[in-house]
Amino acid sequence: MKLFVIGATGRTGEEIVQQALARGYHVTAFVRSPEAVTMRHERLGVLEGNVTDEEQLSGAMRNHDAVVSALGPRRVFKPSSLLHDSALATIRAMQRSGVRRLVVLSAAAHFPGIPNRIVSFILRNHMRDSLAMEKVVQDSGLDWTIARPPRLTQEQYATYRSREGAAPRRGFSISRKAVAAFMLDAIEQEKYFQKIAGIAK
Ligand SMILES: NC(=O)c1ccc[n+]([C@@H]2O[C@H](COP(=O)([O-])OP(=O)(O)OC[C@H]3O[C@@H](n4cnc5c(N)ncnc54)[C@H](OP(=O)(O)O)[C@@H]3O)[C@@H](O)[C@H]2O)c1
Repeated sequence: MKLFVIGATGRTGEEIVQQALARGYHVTAFVRSPEAVTMRHERLGVLEGNVTDEEQLSGAMRNHDAVVSALGPRRVFKPSSLLHDSALATIRAMQRSGVRRLVVLSAAAHFPGIPNRIVSFILRNHMRDSLAMEKVVQDSGLDWTIARPPRLTQEQYATYRSREGAAPRRGFSISRKAVAAFMLDAIEQEKYFQKIAGIAK
């Protein structure tokens, strides 16, 4: 498996890279600041680029089997179209370079329910971008999976519960390790192809 990772320098992204290497994958981390990647591994390649640039992405992702994005804005309260713009460029790049498998990180706050509506209101700029990202992914025609976790933690477990189209019951948080494990499992299994998955502890 040759995996292309966007957001590899983030807290979830680093887990994805580590676990993918542990599974024996070849990993390409596509990052804006290569110096931020401190990990060294013979199967890890680091490429510098702009995550919203279709041209750069398509050249870089040729010959990969799957793309995973754990991108997130560093300032969640500011208006941004980073997630949407990156997803659109990534999808077009995948279509050009013949890569079909895409797993992206979204948020459980998009599920119905009053607590989710409150979170969505507080984080409205980020949530608007994240929903726009989901829409372009769903319209892509690729073998996509959208992972919607609740609050992310730095706990050490890597197990999770998952549910198609809904949040697992009483799932209020999940570790970034477990999110990474789900996203890699989603690449390997066809269970969540073209599906939104709610995941939680
Ligand atoms: N925090 C939560 O409780 C929570 C809950 C549910 C869902 N989520 C979702 O999970 C996602 C990831 O969370 P996280 O905590 O793992 O993220 P994080 O640690 O903040 O990492 C964000 C990643 O995105 C990259 N990035 C940000 N802006 C960029 C830009 N303009 N160009 C290129 N790369 C950029 C960062 O790169 P640099 O290192 O170069 O900055 C980093 O790799 C978020 O999108 C969030 O919506 C979070």
